[in-house]
Amino acid sequence: MSKKVLVLSSSPRKGGNSDLLCDQFVLGAHEAGHHAEKIFLRDRKINYCTGCGTCYEGAKRCPQKDDMPEVLEKMIAADVIVMATPVYFYTMAAQMKTLIDRTCSRYTEIKNKEFYFIVAAADTSKQAMERTLEGLRGFTSCLSGAEEKGIIYGTGAWKVGEIKGKPAMKKAYESGKAVR
Ligand SMILES: Cc1cc2nc3c(=O)[nH]c(=O)nc-3n(C[C@H](O)[C@H](O)[C@H](O)COP(=O)(O)O)c2cc1C
Repeated sequence: MSKKVLVLSSSPRKGGNSDLLCDQFVLGAHEAGHHAEKIFLRDRKINYCTGCGTCYEGAKRCPQKDDMPEVLEKMIAADVIVMATPVYFYTMAAQMKTLIDRTCSRYTEIKNKEFYFIVAAADTSKQAMERTLEGLRGFTSCLSGAEEKGIIYGTGAWKVGEIKGKPAMKKAYESGKAVR
């Protein structure tokens, strides 16, 4: 069965390590016959949630005018969501957190999704990624029927593109290809 795969790439670096892993995931998913799309968040205008309450106090809509409605629509339509982030001070990048907060108006509609997490970091320890992953799980734990399917550890990569040639690239490709 062909699935809709949405990859959310939050590195501020074009060709950044987590972004390269996203491309591998997309490649694998395409080869497995899925429809896979990557959104590079840096190319989108996504404002911070202001906590105004409009979305949960009746209106059910966010009053902000930016690219978030389109991203939300795609998240709701997806079968599989890949969340990719560089590790910044042992947590996710602000771009990813900003996106998560802006799901507030419609997160209850993001139901029954399969999730993959991609992290990139200079640190070589997988264990050291746990705080970042826990942050992402803070989001998925608020969703109905979310299932964590896999993690791609882009560890030991500091400079842009340094992930090339590391086993994480193959793992990302294979994870995309293994989507069923
Ligand atoms: C502001 C900042 C904070 C960082 N904090 C960490 C960190 O806490 N742990 C770590 O291992 N690497 C840290 N790094 C290194 C990045 O995680 C690393 O360069 C990673 O490959 C970036 O991913 P990207 O290329 O996808 O943007 C930091 C980099 C920056 C710019």
